[in-house]
Amino acid sequence: SLDSYHVSEELGFILPDPLEELPPYYQPWMDIALRVPELVHSHELRFRINKMPLLSSQFLQKHRELRLAHLALSVMTMGYTWQEGENNTVEMLPHNLAVPYWEVSQRLGLPPILTHADAVLANWRKKDPEGPFDMENLELLVSLPGGDSVRGFFMVTLLVELAAVPALRNIPTVINGVRCGDTEAVARALEEISQSVQDMTDALKLMHVYVEPSVFYGIMRIYLSGWKDNTCMPRGLVYEGVQTEPMEYSGGSAAQSSLLHCFDELLGVKHNASSGAFLTRMRNYMPPAHKQLIQDISLQPSLKSFVQQQSSERLTQAFQHCVTKLLALRSYHINIVSRYITVPAARARQLRDHSQDSEEEMISRAPTALEERGTGGSGIMTFLKTVRDQTKDAFLPDT
Ligand code: ALA
Repeated sequence: SLDSYHVSEELGFILPDPLEELPPYYQPWMDIALRVPELVHSHELRFRINKMPLLSSQFLQKHRELRLAHLALSVMTMGYTWQEGENNTVEMLPHNLAVPYWEVSQRLGLPPILTHADAVLANWRKKDPEGPFDMENLELLVSLPGGDSVRGFFMVTLLVELAAVPALRNIPTVINGVRCGDTEAVARALEEISQSVQDMTDALKLMHVYVEPSVFYGIMRIYLSGWKDNTCMPRGLVYEGVQTEPMEYSGGSAAQSSLLHCFDELLGVKHNASSGAFLTRMRNYMPPAHKQLIQDISLQPSLKSFVQQQSSERLTQAFQHCVTKLLALRSYHINIVSRYITVPAARARQLRDHSQDSEEEMISRAPTALEERGTGGSGIMTFLKTVRDQTKDAFLPDT
């Protein structure tokens, strides 16, 4: 069952009811974490973190406590590293942050950097607890510089995760149906998965309403980026008191969401060497239980072969429809990346030294290291187009 993979029937990979407060002992962390945007703005964050007390992580017990602690320490770490932009990064994270961050990360099986599991899955609360799970009634627990666009980016991503829940619920139905040869049950489940993937694309469209391209490109992206495959931190980051050698970790990426990994494994989408390596590495940036679900889906008998053997019109159509919807989602994602990254990057190159208004200035001051790369470190457009093209190979041949 999905439950054993820490996947909820109602919320999928989203952490249900994230804690909003840590035990009082951890107040020094929360006092800073809740103020990261303003402390970055006033250039005080590094100073404040440097004089923060070293706290023991041993008073954190429950999973939700560890997740909130990881989220809080993550936004502090991103703010600390990038407070002064790409040309004034740090070589070392101070031990009073690095040591507890490392311990909490080890206990969760997450890397010591901000991930999708933090910023999106564990970073929400309902304003009205009885109210709906929608844009109006949701807010972030902690944020990064970029104002409303940060909320927009994380919350819209959260709504994409929510839209995928019916698809997740139907994965076990597909697997069981294949095992007992129930053509109709598999077809029905695949039809529901198609609809859910369509709903994910529709949710993704809200990005245009809630995220401002110049703010996303010019302000937010650096705070999501990491210290691996990043030319402005080529050696990585020393976690003081943990290890004397620097360590490299990738920044945030949609590839850290477990959703598409599950659908790819279910539908038999295969990736080539380079994009496959990145996707595989991103599984280590997910909660271990979610990574396990992906692996267990990959070990099931092939759905594609089952569909071919059954030669049922309805089943074949349902399978093809799923691949079509997955392809459409990936194409839509490419459109978004073009508006929020490729177009502003081209403008930034043009504008450098000639910006007129404040929006142009924001764009032209964006980190040059992220012009071609995603915050996760991939060559973002080439990567996304390769993955989209490989999704097409999952279609059944016309017969
Ligand atoms: N991965 C997204 C980017 O490259 C967030 O900006």
